[in-house]
Amino acid sequence: MTFASLAFPLARPLLHALDAEAAHNLTIRTLTMLPSGRPARHGPRLELDVLGLHFPNPLGLAAGFDKNADVPDAMLAMGFGFVEVGTLTPRPQAGNPRPRLFRLAEDRAVINRMGFNNEGHASALAKLKARSGRGGIVGINIGANKDSDDRIGDYVAGIETFSEVASYFTVNISSPNTPGLRALQSRAELEALLSRLNAARSMQRRKPPMLLKIAPDLGEDELADIADVCGAGAVDGIIVSNTTLRRDGLRSAHASEQGGLSGAPLLDLSTRQLARLYLLTAGRVPLIGAGGVHDGASALLKIRAGASLVQLYSALVYDGPGLIEVILTSLSAELSRLGETAASLRGCDAASIAHHKGSGT
Ligand code: FNR
Repeated sequence: MTFASLAFPLARPLLHALDAEAAHNLTIRTLTMLPSGRPARHGPRLELDVLGLHFPNPLGLAAGFDKNADVPDAMLAMGFGFVEVGTLTPRPQAGNPRPRLFRLAEDRAVINRMGFNNEGHASALAKLKARSGRGGIVGINIGANKDSDDRIGDYVAGIETFSEVASYFTVNISSPNTPGLRALQSRAELEALLSRLNAARSMQRRKPPMLLKIAPDLGEDELADIADVCGAGAVDGIIVSNTTLRRDGLRSAHASEQGGLSGAPLLDLSTRQLARLYLLTAGRVPLIGAGGVHDGASALLKIRAGASLVQLYSALVYDGPGLIEVILTSLSAELSRLGETAASLRGCDAASIAHHKGSGT
């Protein structure tokens, strides 16, 4: 148990009395001040080798929590097997006007329209260089400035800036909060983007694996195009998924706020898309499942749907950092009971999950 996971139950009423973004900023400031210990180990069933990296466990922190690379080590110390920082854009940008982050407590969900608020490449690079000897898998999620004249150039700059310090890259073309960004997911634009990024990568001394992060709202043809382009080796893996624009069946007062929805209501849709992509790529492309993971069962569901690795963010808002150990302990116990490993169960239920008719597409 870390100090933060013990303190969260006491701090939650205070944090949730604050505006959601103020609570987040307070959390990050507090985490930068805590000593970071060593995480508990959960045994070999959770360890896995994928993307050319060795993961101590398959549970990662999704992008958007640590946008400026302030607390990767604190989050690794809480038990995450890997941490993704960003989205980072070349130049600092303020993002959208506040309020832009909303808790939907009755739905165990979050809506955000942050708009890539971040301190820019240079500031994050300095922090990542300062921690570079510390180990741990820290992925870097890159994006484009809202007012950029050359969006693809902004992603190229991300590759050039962070190749020496990134464990892996995530190319985020699926945020709903930068107008036009999601158009990069269409076949022609995606091919143009990835060919420039691969040209830039080939010039770097270090070549960290590169993943693409997609929206859950893609239709069948769009998903098939992505599988085609990515299956041909243009990327090393795919993260499914970012937040959704859908708003089915929500009860909370903030349900009609603009932005991307995440948390429990995203679980079905994002897991179905994950399973579809696993089938479309015949299991050959490593996939990271994100969207609505909140306990051991939902983490295992992602793996059964085809994920090698899993990420979460929104559930932390409600359950705090103690959730990480809870999920890892439950996952490890279930794998022991089944006599399996995280890697051996991958995709075993993809066909039934892909065709399951729940809420959503
Ligand atoms: C996000 N997410 C996100 N993703 C990304 O690639 N870049 C980003 O900057 C952000 N920012 C962000 C802010 C906030 C407040 C939230 C809640 C989410 C999306 C996130 O990484 C993840 O893909 C989704 O939230 C789905 O996972 P959860 O939250 O349902 O576990």
